[in-house]
Amino acid sequence: MPATLTPQVFPSAEDASAALANEIGNLVRIRASENRSVVLGLATGSTPIRLYSELAQLHRMGLSFANVITFNLDEYLGLERSHAESYWQFMHFRLFDHIDIPPENIHIPDGTIADEDLAPYCAGYETAICEAGGIDLQVLGIGHNGHIGFNEPGSPPDVTTHVTSLNEITIRDAARAFGGAEFVPTRAITMGVRTILDARRVVLMAFGTSKAQIVSEALTSEVTADLPATYLHNHQDATFYLDAEAASMLSQG
Ligand code: F6R
Repeated sequence: MPATLTPQVFPSAEDASAALANEIGNLVRIRASENRSVVLGLATGSTPIRLYSELAQLHRMGLSFANVITFNLDEYLGLERSHAESYWQFMHFRLFDHIDIPPENIHIPDGTIADEDLAPYCAGYETAICEAGGIDLQVLGIGHNGHIGFNEPGSPPDVTTHVTSLNEITIRDAARAFGGAEFVPTRAITMGVRTILDARRVVLMAFGTSKAQIVSEALTSEVTADLPATYLHNHQDATFYLDAEAASMLSQG
């Protein structure tokens, strides 16, 4: 049997997002009182949008993010920061423009790195995570194909930040935002499965009926490269935060 990956099911995505925002807020506060920083691994996509608005709300209520360091999971290769669909834009629009995180504490893979510089760039991203003290809490979504970050089906477990080719389901899912599949970049920089598993805590969020099938498979399947989210079974402190819809195909009891 796969290990102890137990989901937490919330009535709604709002409830799940608020719970995670409060956990992050408490961690930030405790570390600030100890004069220490917090390192967060962050995801993009539709799933964490509510989490980020909750965090912005915590900031408006007085929480400082001055001691927070962030590393984003991934970025499309070939996109300038200024591109509307770049994850740089997403993160600033959804979160960073609304909190007091120092800009130098923000790390998002750079989608404009030239091919010949990609290997050292990816190694440098890992070094920066290590030098920050490692990721305290990694936020994840899950693709309809089971990917985490852009670790697509077939991804091996022992890989750190690297360049990957996007799977056809990932491209299909992004097609609408890009105005057609032909405009979706075919490659991305992503943290590897190893990078994700090295985080001290991992919370994968999944909301809505469209995620119910893959969530059920991820929770019940043996660990397999065919469904990268199953690698989280090998983590000591990983959990799924689900709304009732995403949990609707889990067997009871
Ligand atoms: C985003 C990422 C992806 C998404 C996943 C789910 O940085 O790495 O793994 O988390 O594709 O996307 P949404 O939330 O849009 O369903």
